[in-house]
Amino acid sequence: MELLDAMKARRSIRKFKSEPIPEAFVGQLIEAAQLAPSGSNIQPTRLVVIKSDAVRAQLSQATPLPFVSQAPVIIACCVDTDSLSDMGTRARELKEAGAFADTPLDKMDPESYAKRKPMDQATAEAYLRLNAAIAIDHITLRAVDLGLGTCWVMMFDQAKVKQILELSENYNVVALIPVGYPDQNPNARPRIELSQILLKEI
Ligand SMILES: Cc1cc2nc3c(=O)[nH]c(=O)nc-3n(C[C@H](O)[C@H](O)[C@H](O)COP(=O)(O)O)c2cc1C
Repeated sequence: MELLDAMKARRSIRKFKSEPIPEAFVGQLIEAAQLAPSGSNIQPTRLVVIKSDAVRAQLSQATPLPFVSQAPVIIACCVDTDSLSDMGTRARELKEAGAFADTPLDKMDPESYAKRKPMDQATAEAYLRLNAAIAIDHITLRAVDLGLGTCWVMMFDQAKVKQILELSENYNVVALIPVGYPDQNPNARPRIELSQILLKEI
């Protein structure tokens, strides 16, 4: 499927068939997440794939949205807050992989860049979520390509979800993504005008 076609066809799906999805498709969604870009290539996104009936039922207690646990698969998209401390290593890897081969780095030494003042907690959290959002968008578009439906869900109780999934402190759940064959065919949702999006061309 052409990328533009997938972008146009994607909808937030809130009704799923109970039919399971092929195991290989789950792997392909994870690969889509792996391909996502991230700041300094830190790759902070971690996924928990939930298929178990018991765990999906438990998750229904952690979100007010019943369609989440009705999907045959839920992907809990998380960030590993520890990944920020690997920024120096990731930046070195990038340099070694030739990412800056055509970029004069005399004004930016990756070593000192990696050692710059750490972000405050709120900034770090926003930065990690920003990176995860890109991976999640890759997942939702690849899902369309595979004939699957998804929905971003941020309406959930963070502490409850972490407890149900037995996640340690360093993981934060950014979104729950129910995945399955759509049992609805919604029209495109309203969008603001292009003229509102484009502030100015200079
Ligand atoms: C960051 C983000 C958070 C969202 N959270 C929820 C949510 O908690 N529950 C829900 O039903 N939809 C959620 N959505 C889906 C939006 O409502 C949906 O993307 C929007 O209405 C546009 O519809 P479309 O995705 O079908 O184009 C979320 C979407 C995004 C991008």
